[in-house]
Amino acid sequence: MEVVILAGIRPLATLAADAIEALLRRKPDAVLGLATGSSPLPVYDELVLRHEQRGLDFSRAHAFTLDEYVGLPAGHPQSYREVIRREFTGRVNISPDNVHGPDGAAADIPAACQAYEDAIRAAGGVDLQLLGIGTDGHVGFNEPVSSLASRTRIKTLVEQTRRDNARFFGSLAEVPHHAVTQGLGTILEARHVILVAAGAQKAQAVRDLVEGPVAAICTASVLQLHPHATVLLDEAAASSLRLADYYRHSYDNKPSWQGL
Ligand code: F6R
Repeated sequence: MEVVILAGIRPLATLAADAIEALLRRKPDAVLGLATGSSPLPVYDELVLRHEQRGLDFSRAHAFTLDEYVGLPAGHPQSYREVIRREFTGRVNISPDNVHGPDGAAADIPAACQAYEDAIRAAGGVDLQLLGIGTDGHVGFNEPVSSLASRTRIKTLVEQTRRDNARFFGSLAEVPHHAVTQGLGTILEARHVILVAAGAQKAQAVRDLVEGPVAAICTASVLQLHPHATVLLDEAAASSLRLADYYRHSYDNKPSWQGL
């Protein structure tokens, strides 16, 4: 696991966008794994800028989102399908047909989850997965004590997650209780994982992710088992890390050819 600590979210977004740009230039039909929530938004803004100013081309790329609420009507502004279109995919030249998300409105949720797993596999797997982290340590909506081997399925959201996400809705009562999410086993199959976290409210979850034991109580800790996981942190999110100085030293002395 590589941990990069920088002074603010903008330089973190630049680094993540650099990795995505390098991937697209090397492999124009790359498969991107997209997260919603607030953490990746600066990355999406930076990619949109590069698309508009430098012609960064998404026309052959594919995208799979991590998760979706269950029970929101189609077109609801907070459905993750809508959010990702509004915040990112609708602002670059990726084909809408190439943007996929789990179906939270399916009559047969288990069948829809299996179909989503099959679609990711048929596309050749995710090349680069962007992640945020919940204050309870979740990635995707893999809430505490999710199986570390889980696949795409329905999960019940913990109240802390519902409260955290109420800011996107009118009130807590409007936040769904369930979501379908890629599993931890699914996420681990992405070839490169980049997790972005900013703000002091993420510091404990980040410490558990990076320096805690691999344990289902902090599901993000499963990334310690991933061969190519990058954790991008601002100072506040990194403020509880014991080995922060070591991570800074490693990054400062990294060979320039290495990239993320
Ligand atoms: C959303 C997702 C969640 C969020 C997490 C952090 O697709 O997968 O795991 O990344 O809840 O949310 P923010 O970034 O809003 O703090």
